[in-house]
Amino acid sequence: MSQYVLALDQGTTSSRAILFDRAGRPYDVAQQDFPQLFPHPGWVEHDAIAIWESQLAVARQVMRNANVSAQDIAAIGIANQRETTVLWDRKTGEPIANAIVWQDRRTASICESLRDAGLGTLFQQKTGLVLDAYFSGTKLKWLLDHVPNTRARAERGELAFGTIDSWLIYKLCGRHLTDVSNASRTLLFNIHTLQWDDELLSALTIPRSLLPEVTPSSGIVAHCNAEWFGRTLPIAGLAGDQQAATFGQACFQPGMAKNTYGTGCFMLLNTGNSPITSHNQLLTTVGWQCTSNTAAVDYMLEGSVFMAGAIVQWLRDELGLIQQSADIEALASSTSDSNGVWFVPAFNGLGAPYWDPYARGTLLGMTRGTSKAHIARAALESIAYQSADLMTAMQKDASVPLLALRVDGGASRNNLLMQFQADILGSPVIRPVVTETTALGAAYLAGLGVGFWQDADEIAGFWQVDRCFEPRMSVDERSSRLSIWHRAVERSRGWDS
Ligand code: G3P
Repeated sequence: MSQYVLALDQGTTSSRAILFDRAGRPYDVAQQDFPQLFPHPGWVEHDAIAIWESQLAVARQVMRNANVSAQDIAAIGIANQRETTVLWDRKTGEPIANAIVWQDRRTASICESLRDAGLGTLFQQKTGLVLDAYFSGTKLKWLLDHVPNTRARAERGELAFGTIDSWLIYKLCGRHLTDVSNASRTLLFNIHTLQWDDELLSALTIPRSLLPEVTPSSGIVAHCNAEWFGRTLPIAGLAGDQQAATFGQACFQPGMAKNTYGTGCFMLLNTGNSPITSHNQLLTTVGWQCTSNTAAVDYMLEGSVFMAGAIVQWLRDELGLIQQSADIEALASSTSDSNGVWFVPAFNGLGAPYWDPYARGTLLGMTRGTSKAHIARAALESIAYQSADLMTAMQKDASVPLLALRVDGGASRNNLLMQFQADILGSPVIRPVVTETTALGAAYLAGLGVGFWQDADEIAGFWQVDRCFEPRMSVDERSSRLSIWHRAVERSRGWDS
């Protein structure tokens, strides 16, 4: 009997593969970074072939390391960086250009024209998203309009569009499909009817022939070719990485929320089987659709901020303030506060709830007494302030009170940051034992899809607390800090217009 589920976690900066056992514990992991390409200020690209090759390599490597063969694997689950846009030739499987990454701001002016044409409400009503360069639709339009001969080829049906899940499945199985959670991040998908939407396609001048078939997130959707792992294996779980992490955190009931501290920060609140329209600049998005659960869709409210863990990388790689990312905690802890320094990490503009593509990174309040420790602390604190803005917007939108926040992602291991997060939210922050929740969620979706696990209750039983951070800051201090933060945010806005 198969003992493991293989999760592929294709993230913004690395491809990972993790084997999970029947108790939802990570058994072995392999990881490879791949190059980040910045051809112009505000542009971010990936080589889709480098993504595919690194993902295949780590999948094979983790099996080799763990001495696990394809016979021991019940199913594969895929979680992926969302929105990143790939366009490829259906015959050769070759991308026609570099993938445009979710962080890329080149299409801000396309979004502005669509908003000026009064289309913002239509897009929000149908897709749950705001018209921002973050999502795939305008990136795909850009490729069609700028890569020579592409639009004509698309109209002849020669090309295929996909987010990274589609791209990997195309390579693994030769099929062109995506799941509802990834489709819901494209600006092309109606989250009420769960169909691609002709009115939106026409507003963005995108031919329907480019689009993949849409599947549920759990259940066998395709089988990978035997050449990759020595035997064919079912792909039975598929979700955008943030939705997968919410599943991995067992946030199955309305009112349960998680925040992932990855490249960016992504807070998702389960709102149940009907979508809630945000009045506070959050996104309404599809969480997942499980066929084992009467095919009902769970919807989420989401707040996304673009820079979180990436700030620590920047301090390490560009400023050289630390040697390794983990050193940030010791450096920031060497001072009791930021000594009046405020850091707004709007390197790629600001996401929710501001949606300002023209904001830029800003450091305020420096004096001759400012040290690198103060800058490190202000940088860490900015991650918590951005998340607090998301939580405030979420509490205004949701009718359910949020009692605690489950956290995961690399920076959730930083105790200083997690304590400050609880302080600045004024509510507990709970870190589980397994913080690999993105891959775990993909594994759970796949495992449920093939009957490796029975139901959500079984999975929820695996979730265990590692540490709970209780808020300690006074209400006065919290509100005074938040008001200075908001002044700092205002200073960063509109800089690049
Ligand atoms: O929406 C972007 C998000 O999916 C990226 O996640 O973990 O690759 O930073 P991550």
